[in-house]
Amino acid sequence: MTNKMKLIWLALIAPSLPLLFSGASSTAQESTAPSELIREEGWQLVHDNCTECHSSQIIVQNSGTREVWKSRIEWMRNSQGLGDLGPELEDSILDYLTLNYGQKTASRRRALPPHLMPSNPNLQAN
Ligand code: HEC
Repeated sequence: MTNKMKLIWLALIAPSLPLLFSGASSTAQESTAPSELIREEGWQLVHDNCTECHSSQIIVQNSGTREVWKSRIEWMRNSQGLGDLGPELEDSILDYLTLNYGQKTASRRRALPPHLMPSNPNLQAN
């Protein structure tokens, strides 16, 4: 490279390189992968206290009432070596879990009475 070319490189091209790379990564940070904790109040507490033995995936794939979550935490405390969280921290964690991974409402569709059902094309009329 001639000196002149080096100057052009430094002045015009080099400063724009970081821009090229930052553009590609900024969108990926915004979205939350399905295995990650929902970013609601308290998620950081759960992240800090609940993901050292297993990933957050095992948490987000579960759901339940406050009592169910409490019993899971007790089970881990009694048999898996989870340390004492203290009542306040445990309460905040339970708040987060119940709010974001609470009891799922029944999702099965109610059966309709037969006269409201569409006719079944696989059944032969006879
Ligand atoms: C000291 C280690 C440890 C810590 C800390 C820990 N867990 Fe666990 N947890 C375990 C182990 C071990 C299992 C069983 C994993 C398996 O079955 O593969 C488990 C399983 C689970 C399960 C699945 C239970 C089931 O019924 O299948 C959930 C949900 C869970 N943990 C949530 C949490 C939450 C919420 C916290 C934070 C309060 C937490 N864990 C912190 C060790 C830990």
